[in-house]
Amino acid sequence: MNILLIGSGGREHSLAWKIAASPLVTRFVAAPGNPGIAEHCELRDVQATDVTGLLYLAQEITADLVVIGPETTVAAGLADALEIAGIPCFGPTEAAGKLETSKAFTKAFCDRHGLPTGAYAICEAAEEAKAALAQFIPPWVIKADGLAAGKGVVVTPDRAEAEAAIDDAFGGRFGAAGATVVIEEFLDGEIGSLFALCDGKTSMLFGWAQDHKRAFDGDKGPNTGGMGTYSPAPVLTPELVEQIRTRLAEPAFAGIAWDGAPYRGVLFVEVMATREGPKLVEFNVRFGDPECQVLMLRLESDLVPYLIACATGRLADLPPPVWRDEAAVCVVLAAEGYPGTPRSGGEIRLPGTPAEGVAIFHAGTRRDAAGVLRAAGGRVLNVCARAPTLREARDRAYAAVDAIHFPDGFCRRDIGWRALG
Ligand code: GLY
Repeated sequence: MNILLIGSGGREHSLAWKIAASPLVTRFVAAPGNPGIAEHCELRDVQATDVTGLLYLAQEITADLVVIGPETTVAAGLADALEIAGIPCFGPTEAAGKLETSKAFTKAFCDRHGLPTGAYAICEAAEEAKAALAQFIPPWVIKADGLAAGKGVVVTPDRAEAEAAIDDAFGGRFGAAGATVVIEEFLDGEIGSLFALCDGKTSMLFGWAQDHKRAFDGDKGPNTGGMGTYSPAPVLTPELVEQIRTRLAEPAFAGIAWDGAPYRGVLFVEVMATREGPKLVEFNVRFGDPECQVLMLRLESDLVPYLIACATGRLADLPPPVWRDEAAVCVVLAAEGYPGTPRSGGEIRLPGTPAEGVAIFHAGTRRDAAGVLRAAGGRVLNVCARAPTLREARDRAYAAVDAIHFPDGFCRRDIGWRALG
């Protein structure tokens, strides 16, 4: 089977690592990829939002399957173009992708289809948004409507900061993505990430994890795209997982199909475990980053049959995936300055062979003309480890972090604290 993987981050590196291990793969190409992904497949320099270029590439390599990593590719409409060309695609159409690409759409979708989520106000102008703050008990949650690379969310108890976030969004900080702002009720509880596959009709749970959103230890500092994950996460009890499946994941798949956009791919359901049960924080229309990394470490089953089954409507033919009875931890090494302006170009030296149970995924790296590995993004490396217990997995991950030379980098030192104390 010929497979084309789209993307260039740590999530895609972990997908490449797992796909490359499948005996079903004949030819494996990634676009645009990164130096870590290059260890597993051929790279082609086509950007993740260049739909025409990606379509030509899929045709050139006679792809049997295209796997979309990032949400920007979903938003660009690659799945739609591939559908017209008759090429199976793991990843939803642009219309189904609205579950991530518009927070206002998703809130209205939840109301329409009866999915539990927090109260909200959709605002089209700064004065309207500032007035809407009075409807909510602080801390305020202010979100740019569209895609903002994990930076469009501000949670603050400080009115002046809330108003500044509103001004930022309407002032163009996120471009068109901030032209609408959603103010949300602050949901109190513990947050969890659950993943479900769908082939347009049939759905299946595909693991869960917990992320650490804030930049610094003790859940301090600004929101990020995620500074580390672990799986399994005790917050996701079997009862809660069942509630998320029946109250959020399955109704979302049914609702989006009812709306005329059947879902093919993975849905990432980010929930708050509240006293009244799980409430939707947001949907994402792709694997979480860095949640995917810990899922790939724990996944015993071959990933490829699940990807192709989602793309071809054959998920009902497959058993549930088998997970290793082990824990996995991912620590994100970010460049100083992230999530603001990260320091670019810092030298990275990795150990020759990672220790047992350790995988280091590249998230934002490049090689310079001399072949030296350098930082090229906010989140730079994902240092992941698997072990019989969460504590051992965490210790292995931090030992691996300490063996990396990256003076411009920083990481949180408390990944897994809710489970480990
Ligand atoms: N880790 C959160 C995300 O992928 O959006």
